[in-house]
Amino acid sequence: MADRPVIFVLNGPNLNMLGTREPEIYGTTTLDDIAAMLEDRALELGLAIEMRQSNHEGHLVDWIQEAHLSDAKAVIINPGAFTHTSVALYDAIKGVTIPVIEVHLSNPHAREAFRHKSFVGQAAKGTIAGFGAQSYMLALDAAARF
Ligand code: DQA
Repeated sequence: MADRPVIFVLNGPNLNMLGTREPEIYGTTTLDDIAAMLEDRALELGLAIEMRQSNHEGHLVDWIQEAHLSDAKAVIINPGAFTHTSVALYDAIKGVTIPVIEVHLSNPHAREAFRHKSFVGQAAKGTIAGFGAQSYMLALDAAARF
């Protein structure tokens, strides 16, 4: 892993339940499956993946700061429900210079009205949503070009 540029892939609440959580919305791919797909693609791109998940908002704030301070290349974040609530994540992203890509498995704009607002999307460089696990792969390809 030594010299490859690092991409932090941060996952918020309930994403540890992927595979069994509302499969009609999120599919049956687990977070471990997504990690394995990202690892394979990262190797091809000459990158390293630092994959993390937490149900706690502050952990995600800490990890955004850590990615920035450790000179990682980019952050890919699926903030889960914190997308729609978290001023702390908005401030964390605004407070660093590392590029942050927001990803979602589902397309929040095609779902309930409370999912239409994204605090994270207002601070992120860009958003990829609605392509299931492929959203993460598209984000990784985008991050590779930074
Ligand atoms: C999600 C969309 C959010 O609205 C939801 O709260 C999630 C998952 C997605 O990946 O589609 O937990 O971020």
